[in-house]
Amino acid sequence: METIYDILSKEHDQVLDLFEEAISDGSKETFLKIKAELDPHMQGEEKLFYPVLKEKEEARESVLEGYEEHRIAEMLLSELESMDEKEERWHAKIKVLKESIEHHVEEEQNTMFEISRKVLSEEKAEEIAQKYLEFKKNFKGKKEPSVKKI
Ligand SMILES: [Fe+2]
Ligand SMILES: [Fe+2]
Repeated sequence: METIYDILSKEHDQVLDLFEEAISDGSKETFLKIKAELDPHMQGEEKLFYPVLKEKEEARESVLEGYEEHRIAEMLLSELESMDEKEERWHAKIKVLKESIEHHVEEEQNTMFEISRKVLSEEKAEEIAQKYLEFKKNFKGKKEPSVKKI
């Protein structure tokens, strides 16, 4: 069965690919695809994965860092969301977002997940994966009406 690490890692790869696209095409459309990936991803991590892991002393520091990196990403995402792709600062801001997400992904994969594999059982990692997939399904459902209004 898939673990939460499998799912999150796959999504990390997808979003890093989208960043390459966003940097080369410079479009808001590609940025919005990134945001649509990152919003449920970060919220799902914070709702279902981080709290479980934070209870483990060995993982606490890494999880706290993860929350802070999410805050920075959310700030940049919301700034970009209200900007036009033709604005002078667009390219610089999306580059900074890309760099901060790359750093965050590296921290999660090389530090947080490694600690997590030691302190959470395989069964727990599979159980979180199921809950995460369920959360994402409902998240998409909730987002649809607002997308249709646009
Ligand atoms: Fe992640
Ligand atoms: Fe994250």
